[in-house]
Amino acid sequence: MTGSLSYEQLLAAAKEFGTPVYVYHAEKIKEQYEKLVSAFAALDTQFFYACKALTNINVLRYVKSIGCNIDCSSINEVKLALHAGFEPQKILYTSNGIAFSEIEEAVAAGVHINIDSLSNLEKFGKKYGSTYPVGIRIRPNIMAGGNLKISTGHDTSKFGIPVSQLHLIKDMVAANGIFIRTLHIHTGSDIKDADVFVQGMEVLFELLPHFPELEVIDLGGGFKVPYQPGETETDIVLLAQKISDAFAAHPQAAGQRFKLWFEPGKYLVSQCGYLLTEVTVLKDTGAITFAAVNSGLNHLIRPMMYDAYHHIENISNPGGPEKVYTVTGNICETDTFAADRPLNEIREGDILAFYNAGAYGFEMASNYNSRFKPAEVLYQEGKPRLIRRRDEMADLLRNLVEE
Ligand code: LLP
Repeated sequence: MTGSLSYEQLLAAAKEFGTPVYVYHAEKIKEQYEKLVSAFAALDTQFFYACKALTNINVLRYVKSIGCNIDCSSINEVKLALHAGFEPQKILYTSNGIAFSEIEEAVAAGVHINIDSLSNLEKFGKKYGSTYPVGIRIRPNIMAGGNLKISTGHDTSKFGIPVSQLHLIKDMVAANGIFIRTLHIHTGSDIKDADVFVQGMEVLFELLPHFPELEVIDLGGGFKVPYQPGETETDIVLLAQKISDAFAAHPQAAGQRFKLWFEPGKYLVSQCGYLLTEVTVLKDTGAITFAAVNSGLNHLIRPMMYDAYHHIENISNPGGPEKVYTVTGNICETDTFAADRPLNEIREGDILAFYNAGAYGFEMASNYNSRFKPAEVLYQEGKPRLIRRRDEMADLLRNLVEE
């Protein structure tokens, strides 16, 4: 499996900035964005980068510079987006389970909002009536996504207002004259099958007669990218074709010029990122050879949390004979990154690169075991630059109240 940064570039970053370090490749983000834009060129489409995947302000500014909008999952992400320079009309806040005060703040900031509960919809209607166009998140009762933990549209999911409660939504909208501009769904992450998006659309199409002011259909994020060698990503060109056909075929949608919105996270930033670590201990136990690195589930939780596969390469010994290793971290509980993985021979001090580390990597990192969070580096126009310093002791003590 090859990334878009070379071993030499990665090794140079490890040498200059130390390890563990997250390294991102700006132009890979652009490449992914341009694939989306060109596939959907025939439709009136806008993409909002789901920044929960990676919020470093320098990455947000880069995403803005290539013309992409931004999707936020908390009011703080909205504030980061504003700080990065996004104009309010380029910001979408897709909330869930939040206090109404966050919606009030989002309205004050002038950003697009998707509401995901009847409770907040009612409060919204009472306060703003028809004055602020808004979106609602519908739970379409579709099972989708790579695993249950990242499936969000099924019939026991907490996300969105169940489509079966349409009558309640309608009553609330009518009672307060709410201007429903957007219908939103997001059914999961790692969705390879283009038909799942079409199925979700069909659910929304059935609702069209009830929302005459509707302007936007927002299909959320969830496009799959390859994690394992040989895997393929969601076929975006096929998806665009299927969506276009679905619009044309549906009696309620044909002829109406809806805007189409997407909120890709992984698709834009997963493959741009690498976590570089150094092998600290080799332990041959007879049956298993463990290679421990100076990182752990505190820095990349996806393998332990979702059994996610992350491709690993020994970039400092790429020509070494292949042997089988179990790669772990240095955390005081099981933090297996990869079990029984064939890798080029590992020596203590070698640099192991974890691929697909851009999305939900640093973003889900913690200071567990009082370890420092890694530094972050952005490669742009062939040059690496530090975009977040590694933690130091002062960061661990920063918010503590000491007598
Ligand atoms: N829109 C909404 C409303 C979402 O909840 C999400 C992700 C996205 C868009 C972007 O989904 P993506 O394109 O990245 O699949 N931490 C998990 C993924 C959780 C996704 C949460 N919501 C992981 O590492 O696999």
